[in-house]
Amino acid sequence: MKLYNFNELLSVAKARDFKAIGSFNLHCLEMLPAFFKAAKSMHSPLMIQISTGTAEYLGYRLLVDSVRSLAQSEDVPTCLHLDHCSDIASIETAIDAGFSSVMYDGSHLEMDENIANTRRVIDIARQHNVSVEAELGAIGGSEDGKAVAEEDICFTTVEDAKRFVDETGVDMLAVSVGTVHGLYTGKAHIQHQRLAEITAATGTPLVLHGGTGVSDEDMRLAVAGGIEKVNVGTEMNVQWVDRCKQTFEKGKVNDSVRKFLIPANNAVTQVLTEKIGLFK
Ligand code: 13P
Repeated sequence: MKLYNFNELLSVAKARDFKAIGSFNLHCLEMLPAFFKAAKSMHSPLMIQISTGTAEYLGYRLLVDSVRSLAQSEDVPTCLHLDHCSDIASIETAIDAGFSSVMYDGSHLEMDENIANTRRVIDIARQHNVSVEAELGAIGGSEDGKAVAEEDICFTTVEDAKRFVDETGVDMLAVSVGTVHGLYTGKAHIQHQRLAEITAATGTPLVLHGGTGVSDEDMRLAVAGGIEKVNVGTEMNVQWVDRCKQTFEKGKVNDSVRKFLIPANNAVTQVLTEKIGLFK
């Protein structure tokens, strides 16, 4: 089975009455079947996103081959997406390996440079039917070793978002509207009014980063307000590590390691199942 780009996957999702797609960060290959189990049981398409750190760790081709194989055997329409990447050479590596979607993250750059680089990535991606996500504004928190301090959070403005989309034609835009990457110390405060205005001005699918720790109610409101891709990463990692700590602690050294990992993978399936349920 071919891997779907974001636009193709969104069409499948809409045909199955989903309003948005969850894009879930894979942290290790062991978790992969757990992702498919959740998507299959929810009759949902699946978007799997990979940080450049994980892609370097596992290998781009191994990821493509494994995801494609499971998509085929489980009969789940699947998109494999490279998450936050500021290095165009790595984006080309992902596309060459067979990723079907990429994110160019130039949010730390001046607007003109972000636009120019995003256009370059789109030119490359279009030749391979690969979708492109870009980001505007600075989302707080920490991810894959990179942190944005609270004082550096910069919300996306309606004017910037409109100009960016008009000048790039990007497939989806990540916006900074109040979520943060990683675990929250307090409650997320999504700026729903800002989101509604950006949606109206751009008419382009918007992406909510930092899906971990967002309340179900806020998530539903964000999806109703124009979010069509929701990123969730930390929550699966936390559940997996937590279960492994318990099972490894209790286990014996000659137990099959499989026994330690099954509860962790079941917890990951549960996280995805619950999140996917919010996007109907
Ligand atoms: P969380 O880890 O906060 O869920 O965010 C994931 C994310 O936005 C990946 O780009």
